[in-house]
Amino acid sequence: MRNFTSAHDVTDIDALVQTALGYKADPFKDKVLGTNKRIGCLFLNPSMRTRLSTQIAAQNLGMEAIIFNVGNEGWALEFEDEAIMSGSTVEHVKDAAPIFGNYFDILAIRTFPSLKNREDDYSELYIKQIIKYAGIPVVSLESSTLHPLQSLTDIITIQETLLNSSSGIGRKPKIVLTWAPHVKPLPQCVANSFAQWVNAWGKADFVITHPEDYELSEEFTKGASITHNQEEALKGADFVYVKNWSTYNDYGKIYTNDPKWMLKHKRWVHTNNAKIMHCLPVRRNVELSDEMLDGDMSIVTQQASNRVWAAQAVLSEILKSNG
Ligand code: CP
Repeated sequence: MRNFTSAHDVTDIDALVQTALGYKADPFKDKVLGTNKRIGCLFLNPSMRTRLSTQIAAQNLGMEAIIFNVGNEGWALEFEDEAIMSGSTVEHVKDAAPIFGNYFDILAIRTFPSLKNREDDYSELYIKQIIKYAGIPVVSLESSTLHPLQSLTDIITIQETLLNSSSGIGRKPKIVLTWAPHVKPLPQCVANSFAQWVNAWGKADFVITHPEDYELSEEFTKGASITHNQEEALKGADFVYVKNWSTYNDYGKIYTNDPKWMLKHKRWVHTNNAKIMHCLPVRRNVELSDEMLDGDMSIVTQQASNRVWAAQAVLSEILKSNG
């Protein structure tokens, strides 16, 4: 693996999941793999889980991790080629990225979309320019449209939960991705990415449910069943992934905040005792009710804890294939 920016960078998702679960069982088994190697983690936007789990994962492999909050501590970066830099940006990625390439062995970066211009956001300019100019392997810590480390974690968590279930379910698991209300427009990254990974994994009966006009890009959802009826979607579900996203077609808008879409116990009872997932952070009693988050059905803490093993599996693959 050279770069990790989407499910397309992974040739065998199951093998990567097994690598991650192997690290969970024995975190320090490759503690010298990254000796004398350094990862730079650039954050243009806030983070808690991604930042800490990537740092811990690197340290478990013997790597040094340097965190740089570019967004509020660094020079404002320009990403457009041939830009006339007479505005607020101070340094071009063409000048900065080769320096990162000399300082580090792996570069990881988090950027968010503007949610103003769909074409710009979906062009993934930031991460493409970093890959183009850094000259070293690049890991997405969430980009404008995808969050691959989160999605790998989600598949790991689903697989781990299935393996730990005493009786097994004896069929493909039913996984439901449901839209939830939120007070501000959020990116489509987590939902796009989850859909992309579940489809690429190919081992689930996958349903997406959302209000009308909240369709995601077919590029990611193709292969899933899509319905506007949440109650119908939840029937027999084994896993329910709860997430808000803003509109894709009329880009970056909130059309509804109907609280009926917040998952509550009275709808959860239609599931097959489903485990509840969310990438966090979560707005309690807006996106998900306390009764769901605090109940036995919630696996959000297990899920967030697994971020370490996902990051460790990806970093180890990159270290092994790039020397
Ligand atoms: N889920 C997730 O990416 O969390 P952070 O934004 O805290 O990194």
